[in-house]
Amino acid sequence: MNQFDVCVVGSGPGGYVAAIRSAQMGLKTVIIEREKLGGVCLNVGCIPSKAMITAGHFFHRVNNDAAEMGINISGKVTVDAATLQKWKQSVCDKMSGGVGQLLKGNAVETVLGDAVFKDAQTVEIKSSKGSKVIAAKNFIVATGSRPIEIPGFVIDEKNVLSSTGALALEEIPKKVVVIGGGYIGLEISGFLSDFGTEVVVLEAAKELLSGIVDKDAVQVVVRKLKKKGVTITTESFAKSYKKKGSVLEVTYEVAGKAQVVEVDKILLTVGRKPNSDQANLKGIGLNIDEKGFVKVNAQRKTNIPGIYAIGDIAGQPMLAHKASHEGVLVAEVIGGKNRAYDAKTVPAVIFTDPEIASAGMTEEECKKAGYTDLKIGKFPFAANGRAVSLMETDGFVKIIANAKNNIVLGVHVCGPEASQLISEAALAIEMGATLEDLALTIHPHPTLGETVMEAAEAALGHAIHIIQRPLARASASSNHKTV
Ligand code: NAI
Repeated sequence: MNQFDVCVVGSGPGGYVAAIRSAQMGLKTVIIEREKLGGVCLNVGCIPSKAMITAGHFFHRVNNDAAEMGINISGKVTVDAATLQKWKQSVCDKMSGGVGQLLKGNAVETVLGDAVFKDAQTVEIKSSKGSKVIAAKNFIVATGSRPIEIPGFVIDEKNVLSSTGALALEEIPKKVVVIGGGYIGLEISGFLSDFGTEVVVLEAAKELLSGIVDKDAVQVVVRKLKKKGVTITTESFAKSYKKKGSVLEVTYEVAGKAQVVEVDKILLTVGRKPNSDQANLKGIGLNIDEKGFVKVNAQRKTNIPGIYAIGDIAGQPMLAHKASHEGVLVAEVIGGKNRAYDAKTVPAVIFTDPEIASAGMTEEECKKAGYTDLKIGKFPFAANGRAVSLMETDGFVKIIANAKNNIVLGVHVCGPEASQLISEAALAIEMGATLEDLALTIHPHPTLGETVMEAAEAALGHAIHIIQRPLARASASSNHKTV
């Protein structure tokens, strides 16, 4: 039997990062993966969806913006879905291959197969090649999550697709119903509508992304989705579907009334659940909460000494970068460093058109946290030279600060490259930066980044490129006045 210092189960952005850092710490490390290195993120999630979104955006711009720039295209611009898939797959394979090389280069042993805990010190790995038992002093469980299903809709990746199926379509469907207008539903709706698919989004809640992101940001995205022809129905509940020839007849309910929509494909994106019912995690006695997350402390230790859990299986937010952060942290704890999870913010990005990115609290969260006096500055991309020259002027940067000391509490970006801009905000919040720190930092011109500086100036009452009243100050108990 092989004996290791660290055995990582699952090679997603939590697991592979934990394994590399463990090896860097001088620990004899093995990683086990049942599918492909890189997990959901690299193979069927973050990376392929970004490839599809890039292609969709490109296609949409060629068809819609090129002529205004004087670029004339003779003939019809079409999408070859099979070639698109090939390219998307090459992106994933490059990334997954890169993980393999990094693991090898760091002397991490990789074992492919399905791991099941025999007890708290050993796992058995089964694959088509047989089985193998590995013992380790420490285990890092990073086995992730999977899509939730609802009654009447079983994911078969033919009629009812999860994100995995939607990212592997060999043909662009004519009409799709998307059940669940969350992160995944809206990202996929975006690229499908870019490629010309008629999209109908059914969302159970009153609003899209409610309580997750800034309300003004949601409005910008909804407006653009509608402009692209996407139908969004809120407070609607998908009930069942019937196959009628090549058509899928989906029944849903709005205000108690049954409605029917006929589509080619159904996309089910109503959330994900942790894989804590697998790998015999319950059998060895790991404490699991009522939502299915493995219970962990600030060092990501479980109730069993020597077993750690990170990533989607260890709690919200289910985001790749939170998993990677925990991976490094746990490897360092095992290696003897005094580390604990104490992040002030986990920035989040939704790759819609335009993108929505946030760090820190929304206005509602600030109120709930007891901040009664806020300064809020908002700066539109329409007033930024680089955004105008990119022909991407929808959206804004909003900064919320504590009016008592100007410390930045939240930054919400909706607009071009919001995903790139949010890291500055995350750093500001981690460092306890003030509005002045952002406003007095020289931002290069002409860049989208200037909008962050100008939003901070706006909160201080003196942005240069918008006309505003002097001093934007609002009380959380009254309606916020945003400038
Ligand atoms: P989600 O939780 O973001 O959204 C699910 C949506 O479905 C919610 O709006 C919910 O109200 C709605 N819903 C639930 N049941 C419904 C029903 N029966 N009928 C209609 N609507 C219903 O979940 P999603 O989009 O599946 O994503 C799962 C997780 O994956 C996210 O929470 C996120 O952590 C992660 N993710 C992150 C991405 C990123 O960082 N860019 C991209 C994609 C996913």
